Amino acid sequence: MLIDIITIFPDYFRAVFDYGIVRRAAAAGLVQIEAHDLRGWTIDKHRMVDDRPFGGGDGMVLKPDPIFAAVESLTGARGAAELAGTGVRVVLLSPQGRVFDQRVAEELAGAERIVFICGRYEGVDERVVEMLVTDEISIGDYVLSGGEPAAAVVVDAIVRLIPGALGSETSATNESFSEGLLDFPHYTRPPEFRGLRVPEVLLGGNHAEIARWRRQKALSKTRRNRPDLLERVALTEAERAWLAEEEPENFSGE
Ligand code: ADE
Repeated sequence: MLIDIITIFPDYFRAVFDYGIVRRAAAAGLVQIEAHDLRGWTIDKHRMVDDRPFGGGDGMVLKPDPIFAAVESLTGARGAAELAGTGVRVVLLSPQGRVFDQRVAEELAGAERIVFICGRYEGVDERVVEMLVTDEISIGDYVLSGGEPAAAVVVDAIVRLIPGALGSETSATNESFSEGLLDFPHYTRPPEFRGLRVPEVLLGGNHAEIARWRRQKALSKTRRNRPDLLERVALTEAERAWLAEEEPENFSGE
């Protein structure tokens, strides 16, 4: 997969992608990530990437011309319409986008190439949204000072889904959100720490019992912290009955 990031802070990404799984995936040739300086596509002598908003108001708006030039030179296509069905996505990070989640990550992980545009200042000229991008994505209902941290989050979530990136093909399907639930609790040695014992079932080696315990803990943790997720998950009759019996008020967290 090829990932291009268009930003006025290309150095921001050096540290971000030089560690962990993203670095490993790049070293293994599974992904190639490049951050490009938007100013490289300006043609005026002040290399201006932003200007005052028509209609008045605070702040500056990112100009359309350098962004169009950047995306066109990277993709060879003039606008989103030409990219339909090509496996190339052009993603604008902005608080106005659809909210990023694991499903969107899986969808984007299937692309051959993604060009990210990091918004800045008060916004981005709307013609970029209308003509150039295939997806406008927000990482949550809060405002960052720019799209750079959001691009780092989205790239991380996507790269770890590329087959081989985690070292084992199955690990990404076994984790939080892959079944629409939060993850179950994890423990490691020592079996007792400051008087707190690891749940006995995990020490016993009965795999069916461990799987049932984990599923139940995932269900109760999801009900406690993210009840909105629970409404979208298909539960068995037995799981429904177990949840009805387990009072959230009595939840011990164990
Ligand atoms: N830029 C500013 N805020 C953002 C957000 N919440 N998500 C994506 N990009 C952003």
